[in-house]
Amino acid sequence: MDSRDIYHEMIVDYSRNPANFGRLENPDVTHHDANPLCGDSIDMDLKIDDSVISDVKFHGRGCAICMACSSVLTEITKGKTLDDARSISKNDVLEELGLERLQAIRIKCALLSLKTLKMALYKYITEHMTEDADSLKDEAAGLY
Ligand code: FES
Repeated sequence: MDSRDIYHEMIVDYSRNPANFGRLENPDVTHHDANPLCGDSIDMDLKIDDSVISDVKFHGRGCAICMACSSVLTEITKGKTLDDARSISKNDVLEELGLERLQAIRIKCALLSLKTLKMALYKYITEHMTEDADSLKDEAAGLY
């Protein structure tokens, strides 16, 4: 089995059994976003303790790539400080699933959850740490 087969299998597995799928009780911040091309949407809930993301879950609907990238992103995000979560890049997500050469039309599928995470962080930081808010909003806006 070559690496492309392994990545394909990972995407299929995550789409059938997404990681960290569901809702958090009493999240500290939640954000909803949608892919304007297909109407698929996800919500992301974060629990934040002492500037550390102690838990994260997502729910909603999306294609296999969207579900796999959302799963991987939540796995990467859990346990990170807010600063470290802010620096998660699109390549961090795409590389986990061998999607670095994804067609432009599928990029929005792959990055919907990252955009949702960045906007959730923006919302939280706006409410709690106003000095960092503007730069984070620019990061989220520049993802696509
Ligand atoms: Fe809707 Fe991929 S086709 S998120």
